[in-house]
Amino acid sequence: MHDGFDRTARIVGLGGYLPERVMTNRDLEAFVETSDDWITTRTGIKERRMVADDEALVDLIERAGTAALADAGLDPAAVDLLIVATATVEQPIPATSAIVQPRLGVTNAACFDLSAACSGFTYGLNVARQFIATGEATTVLVVGAECLTRYLDWTDRTTCVLFGDGAGAVVLQPAPQGEGILQIAWRTDGSLADIISMPGGGCRYPPSSMESIHRRLPFIKMRGNETFKVAVRALTEISQSVLEAAGIGVDQVDLFIPHQANQRIIQAVGQRLGLRDEQVFSNVHRVGNTSAASIPLAMVDARDQGRMRRGDLVLASSFGGGLTWASSLFRY
Ligand code: UT7
Repeated sequence: MHDGFDRTARIVGLGGYLPERVMTNRDLEAFVETSDDWITTRTGIKERRMVADDEALVDLIERAGTAALADAGLDPAAVDLLIVATATVEQPIPATSAIVQPRLGVTNAACFDLSAACSGFTYGLNVARQFIATGEATTVLVVGAECLTRYLDWTDRTTCVLFGDGAGAVVLQPAPQGEGILQIAWRTDGSLADIISMPGGGCRYPPSSMESIHRRLPFIKMRGNETFKVAVRALTEISQSVLEAAGIGVDQVDLFIPHQANQRIIQAVGQRLGLRDEQVFSNVHRVGNTSAASIPLAMVDARDQGRMRRGDLVLASSFGGGLTWASSLFRY
């Protein structure tokens, strides 16, 4: 980064949590007009996780955040900033990050939520890096978490087969420039706000309004095919721009972790970037699209499979509603 600061941030802890309940494509066939074959060939997804009836977002965040802090070997009281990236808040007031604060024990942290849909975690990484670079924060917990199955319209087969629940988290601390997060980029195009949206549940169409209920507005809507095309273009462009700015060639990247929405998008972006298959990570088959939790959950799987080791050069790029897209190049 050429931002004038002499320090950046590095990941000192990583953790994730998936709810226990597994929903397979075959399970969906029982009540949605779809098939395992369609879902598998169009998306690569085989199963996703779903919260239990008595679970909600803060339960997932508590597990993921606690795991990341344990991985870092840190006392939760050391955290001075908690950022929760989510599109599926626990409740409108207060912020989800405030609700979960006592459960995590991060009692000295300032807490806020970040809304950037599927790019939320990568946006959060970038925000945290900035606070650490300026010296405003020393230990930051960034969580990407979603409880998407509560916002799915189970009569809309074009969306309900795609998404899953989960949470992933990292702990960031200062590092000298040249280590940790090396380069970031983020973009927004609000002129395409309506291609992925949840139109109801806010002040325009409050959840209680008859219009909201009759038009099924408090559910996720997506024009999938349009989204697909923009996603491939945007993920490729932002990944290239981050590598170029850092002066890093594709062959130097140990692992590319793209947003896990669709295996065909992951493959297309990997090919356009000129990456070999073994450089591209995917776990979409087992978790589906977990939006803001997608990148950190993939990082956890990559670490656990020995595909992301300490010192590896990792490129993480996300894309989602807003539209938003973002990329972070870091040495793990
Ligand atoms: O996380 C935020 C970013 N999100 C993404 O990046 C998602 C991007 N989009 C996609 O992943 C894909 O566009 C989808 C998986 C959502 C859809 O795949 P597609 O190849 O773009 O399919 P399509 O929307 O063009 O639909 C093809 C056909 C349609 O039937 P007709 O009109 O050709 O007769 C749909 O009605 O597939 C039908 N279809 C289904 N059939 C069985 C749509 N959903 C289903 C389904 N099961 N679940």
